Amino acid sequence: MEKVVSGIRPTGNLHLGNYFGAVTSFVKMQEDYDCMFFIADWHSLTTQPKPGDLRRSVKTILAEYLACGIDPEKATIYIQSDVKETLELYLYLNMNAYLGELGRVTTFKEKARKQPNNVNAGLFTYPTLMAADILQHKALKVPVGKDQQQNMEMARKCARRFNNIYGVEFFPEPQDFTYSAKALKIPGLDGSGKMGKSEGNCVYLCDDDKTITNKVKKALTVSGAEVPNSPKPECIENLFTLLEICSAPEVYKFYDERWNDCTIRFGDLKKQLAEDMCNVIRPIRERIMEFSSNDTLLEKIAREGAERARESAAKTLREVREIIGFTPVAR
Ligand code: ADP
Ligand code: TRP
Repeated sequence: MEKVVSGIRPTGNLHLGNYFGAVTSFVKMQEDYDCMFFIADWHSLTTQPKPGDLRRSVKTILAEYLACGIDPEKATIYIQSDVKETLELYLYLNMNAYLGELGRVTTFKEKARKQPNNVNAGLFTYPTLMAADILQHKALKVPVGKDQQQNMEMARKCARRFNNIYGVEFFPEPQDFTYSAKALKIPGLDGSGKMGKSEGNCVYLCDDDKTITNKVKKALTVSGAEVPNSPKPECIENLFTLLEICSAPEVYKFYDERWNDCTIRFGDLKKQLAEDMCNVIRPIRERIMEFSSNDTLLEKIAREGAERARESAAKTLREVREIIGFTPVAR
């Protein structure tokens, strides 16, 4: 089976956008590929989180991914900092990565602009750590969002360069991988753009029914169309996209017809959307609560995942050391 690796940054709770845009594809992928999903806690150190916050976020994100259906029986799920082999490969890859190319990475430039007082070396070498995450498992496919394409280009460069320097065909070049045919963009409830943490317009998977209902109630709308079959303004189109995702096809069709014959009542639409959204989120939220309150289970899953990931990385690293010339002097 082909190997898939992907890292998840432990930042905040999962929202509906993360769920439909990314996590559901992970859940499908575990059926068809040898998947390794890990929580990128080393990567999150570039913004210097407080120890308590970091610990909490790692646990939360683990519980949330499991609640969404990532199954430790089917996929390997582990915490990045449990696999020290990554650091060794990170060092080797850094020896062959150049200041110029790392400095040109857009995510680095953006972060450097956002946190001018903390432009640290970890931020600068973020792409080589990501390359080590991937190459240590010799992964072929990496599901990532659009913003990660440049980092993926660096991972391929790292693989090619290593192979060229040592005259080997050792690392395969990992490809970006979009699992779903159409890239889904989940809109927020504030009228325009996508649902996102920094946009502050999210419905979270841990939100209770009341919170969800209130958020939907407050969603931006305009007055109904006066001319039959008019195009929908963005804020209305967004509500329909959410209906399409959360509700039954008949419900979508019903409101679409009401829009087109100019008899739509947004109060009714929102009430229905809130109810259907609660029904989508409720079972996930309940599983999040179950996992979050079971530290023993979370620890077991993380431990077993780490063992499998270490085994895979250690094999690669043994070979890498041999290729580089670190033949043990005393065996
Ligand atoms: P945020 O934008 O809230 O900070 P992240 O950048 O952490 O979210 O997103 C992690 C993944 O979730 C991304 O790779 C992306 O594919 C997916 N994602 C996030 N928001 C959306 C959205 N509104 N629609 C579709 N996918 C999304
Ligand atoms: N850089 C990714 C992000 O910011 C997270 C990540 C770290 C990752 N290592 C990875 C993704 C390896 C895929 C493969 O979202």
